[in-house]
Amino acid sequence: IKVQDYRPQSFVDFTKEENVQAYQAAVKKVRAELLGKHYPLVIDGEHVDTAEKLTSLNPCDTSEVVGTTAKATIEDAERALQGAWKAFESWKKWDMDARARILLKASAILKRRRMEACALMSIEVGKNYAEADVEVAEAIDFLEYYARSAMKYSGFGSSETTWFEGEENGLMSIPLGVGVSISPWNFPCAIYLGMLAAPIVAGNCVIAKPAEDAGLIAGFVSDIMFEAGLPAGVLQFLPGVGKEIGEYLVNHARTRFITFTGSRAVGLHINEVAAKVQPGQKWIKRVVMELGGKDALIIDETADLDNAVTAAVQGAFGFNGQKCSAMSRLIVVDSVYDRVVSQFVERAQALKVGTGEDNANVTAVVNEMSFNKIKSYLDLAPEEGQVLLGGGAPGEHGGKKGYYIDATIVGDVKRDSRLAQEEIFGPVVTVLRARDWQDALDIANSTEYGLTGGVCSGSRERLEQARAEFEVGNLYFNRKITGAIVGVQPFGGYNMSGTDSKAGGPDYLANFMQLKTVTERW
Ligand code: NAD
Ligand code: ALA
Repeated sequence: IKVQDYRPQSFVDFTKEENVQAYQAAVKKVRAELLGKHYPLVIDGEHVDTAEKLTSLNPCDTSEVVGTTAKATIEDAERALQGAWKAFESWKKWDMDARARILLKASAILKRRRMEACALMSIEVGKNYAEADVEVAEAIDFLEYYARSAMKYSGFGSSETTWFEGEENGLMSIPLGVGVSISPWNFPCAIYLGMLAAPIVAGNCVIAKPAEDAGLIAGFVSDIMFEAGLPAGVLQFLPGVGKEIGEYLVNHARTRFITFTGSRAVGLHINEVAAKVQPGQKWIKRVVMELGGKDALIIDETADLDNAVTAAVQGAFGFNGQKCSAMSRLIVVDSVYDRVVSQFVERAQALKVGTGEDNANVTAVVNEMSFNKIKSYLDLAPEEGQVLLGGGAPGEHGGKKGYYIDATIVGDVKRDSRLAQEEIFGPVVTVLRARDWQDALDIANSTEYGLTGGVCSGSRERLEQARAEFEVGNLYFNRKITGAIVGVQPFGGYNMSGTDSKAGGPDYLANFMQLKTVTERW
């Protein structure tokens, strides 16, 4: 295929009134055409409905049903798995280029429907305009990037081997088989799509299990993959309950790989279940895990403090802190602590609260379970630190019931406290006072997670030290610590944050392939 070099999508500029109006028109269109829609399962290319349904609510107004999806049973999961293996027999023989072509077509369709996808996420999970737009841009980037990555594997011996006289040697990359892709609700378009597109383009068949809270956007983008020409059975769309069908598939002897993005607790459980060999199983299941974080930004006394505070606000409160990459710990060197923290509080105080559709900065968190979990940390906050902003969970805004939590900043928290160690996944920031730069770096590393981190400093020596010693998969200097761009900042954490598989990176497809060395003596 003739393609331009990969270039990430640019983002929509919402300081321009015409773009705001276009977004609002898309919200109206989605409300008229998609609200209340039902997405059935798709197994072997056929729509399959179920007796029970999963209902998706608008978190900013819980009286509103966004739509429903089918709720797969164990029997559906079994049928999806067997069907996917049948589809694999022919899909694995397709040329890489032909498979890549389907991703490129899906990208073209999603580009045309970009604002609709954004608007749907504003309603279904409460993303504001920029957050939704950046996510759909990322979804398009995944399709474009993985299509090009796949093309590089075309042909026998596409991976390099050393020439040996008298022989032909080649390293073939071959797909694994059928896997299950289990995704979270917080990037329900980009992560959902990226996690199925990569294994599929590499020649595998995938059972995609979206998160319960975001089934509509998953149905929307799955339909785009079908429209782009995926043969029946290559993608089995299987919304359902994680601990029912997700667990069943992870456990199954015929599941070859699991790609999971979600919480540490569920991820570690899946890792354990997948490790147990089932009767009749003939492989070691491959497990790719992207888990949580307790991500820190360090601000030292040499930093441009205004820029540093901007980085802190953006990293902490983008999508209400509901990002694995969110800045949930702000570590400030003592000599500038008071100045930085007072500016940080002042800037956070000015954030507008409301709905995603109204483009507020702080919207409602995703569901009741999240709301209650975050609230339990708010209850703990006065014991573990000084509540400098927020601290409440009003549970309503503008006369509408929703999972609203105040943007909250808790100062002078100790490094080993629960607020400083546990992932809260909401608009709650823990601020820690460091004696000096070295102490700040030690605090940053005093967690079992290792996803994102950042340093705002004017000191070259310190940045170089952090480059070597800050234990994270994605490290940022003098900017926010969220918003990795596909191909530009390959994304993924290590330690308890995951298997460091680097989504949107040059080797990501290798997670879903195995290598065969073939030698012929001439
Ligand atoms: P979650 O772990 O609750 O759920 C993730 C998925 O796992 C869902 O689809 C769920 O249905 C499924 N699931 C639940 N129990 C299961 C089981 N026993 N077997 C199989 N599947 C099961 O996570 P969430 O609340 O949807 O997402 C938020 C979490 O995801 C946060 O911890 C966040 O940090 C993490 N996350 C990480 C990354 C990353 O790239 N590292 C990106 C986004 C989100
Ligand atoms: N990839 C997302 C980010 O970097 C999670 O913020």
